[in-house]
Amino acid sequence: MSNLVEIRDLRVDFPTPTGFTQAVRGISFSLGREKLGIVGESGSGKSVTGRALMRLLPEAARVRAGALRFDGIDVLNASERQMRDLRGGRIGLIMQDPKFSLNPVMTVGRQISEAWLAHQKGGKREAREAALALLEQVRIRDPQRVLESYPHEVSGGMGQRVMIAMMLAPNPDLLIADEPTSALDASVQAEILKLIEDLVSARGMGLMLISHDLPLVSRFCDRVVVMYAGQVMEELPARDLHRARHAYTRGLLECMPSLSHKRARLPTLSRDASWLEPRA
Ligand SMILES: Nc1ncnc2c1ncn2[C@@H]1O[C@H](COP(=O)(O)OP(=O)(O)O)[C@@H](O)[C@H]1O
Ligand SMILES: [Mg+2]
Repeated sequence: MSNLVEIRDLRVDFPTPTGFTQAVRGISFSLGREKLGIVGESGSGKSVTGRALMRLLPEAARVRAGALRFDGIDVLNASERQMRDLRGGRIGLIMQDPKFSLNPVMTVGRQISEAWLAHQKGGKREAREAALALLEQVRIRDPQRVLESYPHEVSGGMGQRVMIAMMLAPNPDLLIADEPTSALDASVQAEILKLIEDLVSARGMGLMLISHDLPLVSRFCDRVVVMYAGQVMEELPARDLHRARHAYTRGLLECMPSLSHKRARLPTLSRDASWLEPRA
């Protein structure tokens, strides 16, 4: 399987008044047309990793890597034009809250049409037909009405479906979903993740699903990369999660509340200072 994404020894530092903080400290992994979960607690460097791949980090960030490639393209040295082709074209990004990504003064239909027109060949009528078809693909029941709606007129779950439709419009090779359901009710979460999973499989795309929720991610991904403090602690097939060796991974699993096994109290995740040491 040829790799869509190749990341080797990625390091990202941010300047602070007292020096640089190391947000990502030498991580490596690759991704083909498969579903990969990036999991870790808040602040572990998951979003920074996804953004580094799209070269979306602030100017001040210092990004270094042995390799940071998308489909063979060297992201660190690519031209701005090449990057525009990747962002929102070959790589779609879905974030936590669609309210911040959708334009509040433009109808849903126009936003999806414009995303389509920016990367596909055809006129306005084709774009509108494509937008309608995309809304159907993301299982919106009344696509004609939603096409005419403004973002504030749709619910959170619906907004996320619209975001997915917009990201799929250019027919991307990779979808990066960064906590795509963290702002949604639990009942809607599973539906949206199932939708993403189905669309990614049907289109043969790659998926990078970023989340703090290890059990949730393992249900929808083939493979899981576990991050802690800017490093990869462990990488394993989702089905082997119960065999996770690293204490941090086991801790993430055990700290999740479960409806099936009632517990008097949840364990707290204990951390070991040795996890912070640079890993081989
Ligand atoms: N623009 C920024 N400036 C300074 N520090 C940042 C910036 N973005 C992220 N960081 C820091 O990098 C670390 C990793 O952040 P992030 O990747 O967002 O974590 P998460 O795993 O929760 O997605 C955090 O310590 C965060 O404070
Ligand atoms: Mg994040």
